[in-house]
Amino acid sequence: MIRWIVSSAIFAIYLLELSSGFKEHEFKKCKDTGFCRRHRTKSGPKFDVLHETASVSGHELRATLRNMDAGKTFNLIVRAHSSGTIRLLLDEDLDPSVTNGTRYRISPEDSVTLPSFETTVTPWKTISKTTKDIVVVSGDVQVTLTFAAFKMLVVVKGKPALSLNSKGLFDMEHFRLKEEGVECDGCWSETFLQFTDSKPHGPEAMSLDIAFPGFEHVYGLPEHATSFALKPTVGGEPYRLYNLDVFEYLDSSPFGLYGSIPMMVAHKVGLTIGVFWLNAAEMFVDVSKEGSNTATQWIAESGIVDLFIFTGPGPAEVQQQYAEVTGPTAMPQQFSVGYHQCRWNYKDEADVHLVDSGFDEHEIPYDVIWLDIEHTNGKRYLTWDSHLFPKPIELQNDVASRGRETVTIVDPHVKRDHSYYIFQEAQSEGYFVKNPQGGDFEGWCWPGSSSYLDVTNPTVRAWWAQQFALDKYQGSTEHLYIWNDMNEPSVFNGPEITMQKDLIHHGNVEHRDVHNLYGLFYHMGTAEGLTLRGYQTHGEDGDRPFVLSRAFFSGTQRVGPIWTGDNTADWKHLAVSIPMLLSLGVTGLPFSGADVGGFFGNPDAELITRWNQLGTYYPFFRGHAHLETQRREPWLFGEPATSRIRAAIRERYALMPYIYTLFRHANISGQPIMRPLWFEFPDAKELFHVEDSFLLGSAILVSPVLQQGVDNVDLVLPKGARWFNAHSGEETQGAGKPVKTKVDMESIPVYYKGGSIVPRRERPRRSTRMQMKDPFTLIVALDGNWSAAGDLYLDDGRSFAFLRGQYTHREFKFEGLKLRSAVHNSGSAVVTSVGSWAPAQDLEVERVVFLGLPKTGKGYTARMPDGTEVSLEAGAASTKFSQAENAWVLRQPKLGVDADWVVELVAHK
Ligand code: NOJ
Repeated sequence: MIRWIVSSAIFAIYLLELSSGFKEHEFKKCKDTGFCRRHRTKSGPKFDVLHETASVSGHELRATLRNMDAGKTFNLIVRAHSSGTIRLLLDEDLDPSVTNGTRYRISPEDSVTLPSFETTVTPWKTISKTTKDIVVVSGDVQVTLTFAAFKMLVVVKGKPALSLNSKGLFDMEHFRLKEEGVECDGCWSETFLQFTDSKPHGPEAMSLDIAFPGFEHVYGLPEHATSFALKPTVGGEPYRLYNLDVFEYLDSSPFGLYGSIPMMVAHKVGLTIGVFWLNAAEMFVDVSKEGSNTATQWIAESGIVDLFIFTGPGPAEVQQQYAEVTGPTAMPQQFSVGYHQCRWNYKDEADVHLVDSGFDEHEIPYDVIWLDIEHTNGKRYLTWDSHLFPKPIELQNDVASRGRETVTIVDPHVKRDHSYYIFQEAQSEGYFVKNPQGGDFEGWCWPGSSSYLDVTNPTVRAWWAQQFALDKYQGSTEHLYIWNDMNEPSVFNGPEITMQKDLIHHGNVEHRDVHNLYGLFYHMGTAEGLTLRGYQTHGEDGDRPFVLSRAFFSGTQRVGPIWTGDNTADWKHLAVSIPMLLSLGVTGLPFSGADVGGFFGNPDAELITRWNQLGTYYPFFRGHAHLETQRREPWLFGEPATSRIRAAIRERYALMPYIYTLFRHANISGQPIMRPLWFEFPDAKELFHVEDSFLLGSAILVSPVLQQGVDNVDLVLPKGARWFNAHSGEETQGAGKPVKTKVDMESIPVYYKGGSIVPRRERPRRSTRMQMKDPFTLIVALDGNWSAAGDLYLDDGRSFAFLRGQYTHREFKFEGLKLRSAVHNSGSAVVTSVGSWAPAQDLEVERVVFLGLPKTGKGYTARMPDGTEVSLEAGAASTKFSQAENAWVLRQPKLGVDADWVVELVAHK
């Protein structure tokens, strides 16, 4: 009883705390962290490569590195990979007699990286070796390893790309036994607020000094709510990578949020490169600028150095190289690319029906209704509150009868309740994370006293996956998908609202080593559960899983989408969502979105309208709100807001064929969906810092309205391209600099890039499933040579049948006034055969809109594949593009989507 009272009191204090905003003092800074204090901007001891040990054997350059002060040695391996990736491994040459542990390393068996990557090694060629250095090459990449004071220089196509330890900040602490009387700052135990970290293994941190010569801009390192081009940190806080549940996070701060990807992209004219440190321990990264060079220092608490250098040379190649290591984005189910309606909480079944029918009544499409924690029986996940949700199966089937899905939340903390089957089983099997004394760790979260599944253990993940079978998860159907929240993991009464670092995981691994991996492993286990369920219910083609996660690490893209957590309903949070999502895009996790409307607080009609107008172009598009906010379903703001939100969400559905095709590219070659402007215009320096507008794929530029009450935006249209207003079809030449452009509340500026063909589906429907048989409109936006190209990917939107060729991927090209349809050649080694998805044979193009055709006073005729001739209608005949000069529409061409054909335009003389 006393225990219960004490515990309840702690919980109540936590909830009280929650209501009073961001608590900076609850989170550590560099100065509060021993390993950061020990290494930040301090020169390390002298490390030399022992020159007699440096040698090349096949694909490996090997050498011994020695800490000249301490006399300790480290094994250095540098490998070349065929795609242009260089991998540097550095591990301690451990002497078993004087160690009190081993260094944790993430191996291919952990499923974080792809085992297939290991086989892509390619030989080095030695160019020279002296007592000073060794120079090796592989393809376009040359590496020089300098022996004295250990340095490594990477040159790509003759251009210096990266140098390691040029500032002498490199350090790798060796394992040691504790010696009384020897001072070591924060090495053997460390206290923050009331929490003491026992550090039984002592110091094991590393510092990497990585400089990018000639690169003024670096990007990446999510997750931080701050600018896309990473700002210098000198005199301030370094970027921190440590997955945390940061309550009411600020809109501009280097504090680490819910997920971490230790990947940075450096870009300059002519070269893009990437750096990825495969290490899941807490990390701090400093960025400094010196003239046109960027220098960085990376400090990690434990583990090994496993550094990947992606040598590009372009932005798309860097993404592809990273995807070869950690995997490309999973092909999502089509429904998950639609609009999602969430709230903490839809109260009961009647409420769900009301919201669902509200969308139909207001003729707004949506695909998924979400149920937050209150739907459970006392926060026992995988159960239902039987009063509020007495008939969950009927509920899901009813929602599904209109082509929609349901999502329930499932968090990793397990209520310590002996009558709860998940707790019982997990406890008796010993599946929980352990405290240092060997007992089950107990922490506080939504249900009160909880234990946490040790998902770092593959056996626990496999057991967890089984819990999603339809006969296990009572009240679930094949139309139920999952949301994993709080998986940083969030522990209300733990240090920084998470687990203490000296907790113990499978294999006697400290939490310290795997902290940033925990969320990924939990996400993986859940997604595996839905995959298994899919095979059980649908047979060999299964059902692609959909699991949204809050925490993430490298590799999450293979599992499912993430969202940026608890933002706030204000204009700054609206704006910061763009750099946050761009960072995720260039670090291989494109399927991501921010809560539309803002989680905390109440957006007014203007903010919610602007947020939906932007959310239309988020890769993951979900409205969500905190328990204490006012209801905000799209029709609750009255007119004209409802009509504007309807138009925004309908535009998302109209673009579905284009966006789903972008997901296929992410799936084949790791390409981002939301892209910075420089990604498509890599030599345009003036775009390197632009982060208030972006491209969706390569064809659509979005310049959202991010301020209240404005009637214009600074629109940046890159130079050297033609741009066509997506609402009016009118053309503008790119100026490459901000141009004041009028806006109204009806929409935000969106442009088609000349040279693109964008497939659309114009008929308003209830959901993506209801669009499956609809015909297509092709927008053919011409470049300066009157050419354009684009593609369209189609499959059943649901199963894994696409993996055995059941997909259709078409390519459209317009050149010399001829529009051709042909099979798309992915040019990828992953997709070798041509697919065929039978239902595509019944799909047609119902309209082709040409934007920017050469001027002709008299119009155009189209010579159709069957020899007939059809007159094109001037833009004036199409209401949308009625004012656009040189816009022409081909109506009802009856062109099969899956067929090869040519339509030739003839200008009237
Ligand atoms: C925190 C999540 O970030 C939020 O989206 C959710 O509504 C609450 N937890 C309650 O589950």
